Amino acid sequence: MALSAKSIKRDFPIFDRSSEGKPLIYLDSAATSQKPRAMIEALVKYYERSNANVHRSVHSLAEEATELYESARERIARFIGAADPTEIVFVRNATEALNLVAEAFARPRLGPGDEIVVAVLNHHSNLVPWQQVVARTGAKLRAIPLTSGLQLDMEAAALIIGPRTRVLAITQKSNVLGTIVDVAALAQMAHRYGAAVVVDAAQSVPHMPVDVGRLDADFVALSGHKMLGPMGIGVLWGRRALLEEMPPFLTGGEMVSEVQLESASWNSLPFKFEAGTPNVGGAIGLAAAVDYLCAIGMDAISAHERALSAATWEYLESMEGIQCFQPEGGSNGIVSFRLTNVHPHDVATVLDSEGVAVRAGHHCAQPLHRALGAPATVRASYYLYNEMEDVDRLVSALQSALKFFSHGGQPGRD
Ligand SMILES: Cc1ncc(COP(=O)(O)O)c(C=O)c1O
Repeated sequence: MALSAKSIKRDFPIFDRSSEGKPLIYLDSAATSQKPRAMIEALVKYYERSNANVHRSVHSLAEEATELYESARERIARFIGAADPTEIVFVRNATEALNLVAEAFARPRLGPGDEIVVAVLNHHSNLVPWQQVVARTGAKLRAIPLTSGLQLDMEAAALIIGPRTRVLAITQKSNVLGTIVDVAALAQMAHRYGAAVVVDAAQSVPHMPVDVGRLDADFVALSGHKMLGPMGIGVLWGRRALLEEMPPFLTGGEMVSEVQLESASWNSLPFKFEAGTPNVGGAIGLAAAVDYLCAIGMDAISAHERALSAATWEYLESMEGIQCFQPEGGSNGIVSFRLTNVHPHDVATVLDSEGVAVRAGHHCAQPLHRALGAPATVRASYYLYNEMEDVDRLVSALQSALKFFSHGGQPGRD
């Protein structure tokens, strides 16, 4: 069933405010999403009513906090199709989840002659940790390119993934193009050679149904703040057998079973990877966000966002002076473009003066921008609370920007 963005928007208190004296049009959800009242209330309720450290004290408040924290883990596991909640490790964000896998899984196993396969469209957080593994192990990095239609080149992938591949680190949905990668097909190629499949799902899980079982992945990383949850909470899902074999990433309290003066043994999963006091409120808030997303329906959310980006492309393609980076088959809620001869930051500044919040820059995807032949782009990214009127506001703000720049205007000076 189609969703009603107008009524959804009312669930997000931030839209009660204005920006530059105009109603706020927030088109930067790929950077971070706005937060529904239900999530904010769950967070506040936890701190007002149930705050205590988890898994430590026996008093009732601590037991209550522990129950809430573990119930959050179960709800998040269900949301991504993980059968076993102990495979859900709470981390700070997708970046930390990917570093955990690079350091604790890949680094001890790889050496010269091994290859890590990434993609040109990967976000830096799914690229730089692998560069570090390469620097420390002597393994080699190889990258799957894009087709001219801005899709992942599956034919090239079939040639690059081979007997030397030990890790395939792939991003399921590009934060710049909205391109969705066929992870299951890539996983099949990688598993044929016994390679591990690491999926950056930071942009997919918030916007479309994702089932880790169907992806056939070994590790999946996501960030709570991009899916209506609080900042500072993320998830690493990993196959139990692999997580069991891995050494810890961070060490200290809580992640140990027994400590002698000179040695220690590790706690069971997932606690082996949750050193120190966790972000209990963050996990509870993220579970509330997941409940909110489930009530709307992930299919409805992805269809809604696709409709918004398709409508935006229709407008942009009819306008003069705009270079569009539209992947074949649509862009799944993300629209990246450039105005000829105008720096994307200047465009974003002019749009901001109209109350329209977009992002400009390389969006932590410099290799992708090099492949596009553009050092930076303007990106509008939609979510469930954006309405068709938001598309109209973006387009009319862009028309003003085009007029402004065609008369030689510079933001902040006119
Ligand atoms: C595709 C993708 N992966 C990973 C990340 C990193 O997320 P975080 O900064 O929350 O760790 C982002 C953030 O923009 C992203 O878009």
